[in-house]
Amino acid sequence: MVMPSVRDILASYNDKAPISEAFTIPGAWYVDPHIAELEASSVFAGTWQLVGRIERVEKPGQFVTANIAGEPVVVVRGNDGVLRAFYNVCRHHAAAVVTEQCGQASILHCPYHGWNYGLDGSLKGMPEFDGVKDFDRQQNGLVPVKVETWEKFVFVNLDPEAIALRDFLGGLVKRVAPLGVSRLHYFDTRSYDIACNWKVFVDNYLDGGYHVPHLHKGLSSVLDYKEYTIENEDRYCLQSSPMVSSSEDAATGATRKGDRAWYFWQYPNLMINCYEAYMDTNLVLPLDVDHCRVIFDFYFADVSEASRAYNQQSVAVGARVQDEDLGICESVQRGLKSRAYGAGRLSVRREAGEHLFHRLLAADLKAGAGTVAAAAD
Ligand code: FES
Ligand SMILES: [Fe+2]
Repeated sequence: MVMPSVRDILASYNDKAPISEAFTIPGAWYVDPHIAELEASSVFAGTWQLVGRIERVEKPGQFVTANIAGEPVVVVRGNDGVLRAFYNVCRHHAAAVVTEQCGQASILHCPYHGWNYGLDGSLKGMPEFDGVKDFDRQQNGLVPVKVETWEKFVFVNLDPEAIALRDFLGGLVKRVAPLGVSRLHYFDTRSYDIACNWKVFVDNYLDGGYHVPHLHKGLSSVLDYKEYTIENEDRYCLQSSPMVSSSEDAATGATRKGDRAWYFWQYPNLMINCYEAYMDTNLVLPLDVDHCRVIFDFYFADVSEASRAYNQQSVAVGARVQDEDLGICESVQRGLKSRAYGAGRLSVRREAGEHLFHRLLAADLKAGAGTVAAAAD
């Protein structure tokens, strides 16, 4: 059998079709390792990626590390108060200079041969390096990466030509501002490894509540499903629903409150979910073509000891919804591989968010494939 080329696979999706005529992106986009590679270079290496919370890098020397599209990155606050990011790759023989997830240091010390870098990335010292010719210490600092912050979050972008974070987020900035998420406090993290392509998780998130009455009975009891709204703008989709009080599911009713539920998705892989006095963020990281890791961070208005039991109950409600989603995402991944499946149609009422996601992705992949082909010519 002749394997279709990446170009053929990309060409099999029509990103010009209106939603009433559109198909989903085809199954091959979720299972072909070449597409996953192209995504690393033209989606994840070219978009602003969440790497941590500002509070972790507030003081000089505080740092967080991350992995973006296979690239090790470190973000560190300098003694001058400036937040900087670098490739976490030693200029000597490429070891990771910073090996912890987060912490505080006065100098960045490579564990391999002991080279030292300042918090500003400059190379400060190399043991036993006398006599090395044509070696310019100024030219051997850590390689910088773009870093910016918004609300409680730190983002990096591997593309040196990237547009500013605020321009990338576009209308999301003013939609999130009134929710006051910066007043909330971090409480806890849950991480899930799922046997599905990262896009399956995003699709599931973006189906406009389509699956909620079927898959999430507890959550469904507090949402006014008929009034659920879906708005697309720039690179984000806002799904929102009025809340109703529920006696059907006590834990959900007690921990998911307020007038409205706000579910923001920002292209390509970040979700921000808000209820009254509550936020969780979901960051979807591809591991390989059919596995992803989803990291949930939970935030509450009150994280005092007195609220601990309530907050734990709230996290448990989130975890139950996640368990319900996990099984279905893995089932979808198996189905996408089936010879019986090509691509699916979209509900005009519900699935506009998915349609936006697929079109943004197609634009980046087609541009990326064009660049790759041009470079190879
Ligand atoms: S690799 Fe870092 S000092 Fe050698
Ligand atoms: Fe769900």
